[in-house]
Amino acid sequence: MKAPVRVAVTGAAGQISYSLLFRIAAGQMLGEDQPVILQLLEITPALGALEGVAMELDDCAFPLLAGIVQTDDPNVAFKDADYALLVGARPRGPGMERKDLLEANAAIFSVQGKAINDNASPDIKVLVVGNPANTNALIAQRNAPNINPRQFTAMTRLDHNRAMTQLAQKTGTTINDVKKMTIWGNHSSTQYPDLHHATVNGKTAIDMVDQAWYEGTYIPEVQQRGAAIIKARGASSAASAANAAIAHMRSWALGTAEGDWVSMGVYSDGSYGIAEGLIYSYPCVCKNGDWEIVQGLEVNDFSRDRMAATEQELAEERDAVSHLLP
Ligand code: NAI
Repeated sequence: MKAPVRVAVTGAAGQISYSLLFRIAAGQMLGEDQPVILQLLEITPALGALEGVAMELDDCAFPLLAGIVQTDDPNVAFKDADYALLVGARPRGPGMERKDLLEANAAIFSVQGKAINDNASPDIKVLVVGNPANTNALIAQRNAPNINPRQFTAMTRLDHNRAMTQLAQKTGTTINDVKKMTIWGNHSSTQYPDLHHATVNGKTAIDMVDQAWYEGTYIPEVQQRGAAIIKARGASSAASAANAAIAHMRSWALGTAEGDWVSMGVYSDGSYGIAEGLIYSYPCVCKNGDWEIVQGLEVNDFSRDRMAATEQELAEERDAVSHLLP
């Protein structure tokens, strides 16, 4: 048996974690031969609920679960952590402006970034799920100067998965036939699901659908899927978000399939003309525990406009919290 790795999860008593933690402990994230120690962070008033979750984890008798830490102290939660899933975030309250939301989360993610910097394994892989995920990842990254910025990522895998299923359903195929999906930009309603490089059974997806459906139905449905779930379920997507977090980390740690790629919000190196340093969703290939942005994809004017619009939103979010960035 391998030595256990430490996986920190924030917002551990929340809805997403209620699905996520059990799947991590079952080995679905890092492999069925990799023991884990879960280091669970919550705010003080939620520690009681967290205790209940930890009791249920115990009651599952997971062979791979080598320990559980429960805490309201980020320095404890991130101590020697090899992986961190930052799920907990401040939701938008009544009357809260977008700027207030950004600032409230900046406060949380700057503290957590510092705690990661000071306590975690230098090789830590960080995934931010809590919204606004890309900008929260940027804030954590900026507060962790000793950690390579490439190690901070934001989740657009749920958007990626949604985009794959919508395409499979439209083309009468299954998810197994769909490859090379790309979500560009922000995990928000400006994200751009791109069918110009995606394939269905080896054929270019954009050639299999008409442009009016692509523009008028597909793109908005993928962009608005989160809102549609809330409307239908009366609660936000939790199990599918947890599933996407598992898939994001699994791809990053264990690699992507040959001939395919995934979408990840990653530190922009300027690829495709996107401003350097934004956490922007790109098509990525993962290998040996590292990711690379897929290079050399042709970008037409239609795509360029949409990639720029979502970049613009990310730049505005960054500027709204710039006074809080070190
Ligand atoms: P939830 O409200 O059920 O759980 C969030 C938990 O975080 C709560 O238990 C809360 O006490 C905790 N928390 C708040 N501040 C914290 C802090 N400073 N430190 C530690 N824990 C803290 O929410 P849910 O449904 O689990 O969603 C979590 C986040 O994930 C939300 O921000 C949501 O918008 C986001 N999300 C992101 C998706 C993506 O694709 N990137 C998809 C779905 C949700």
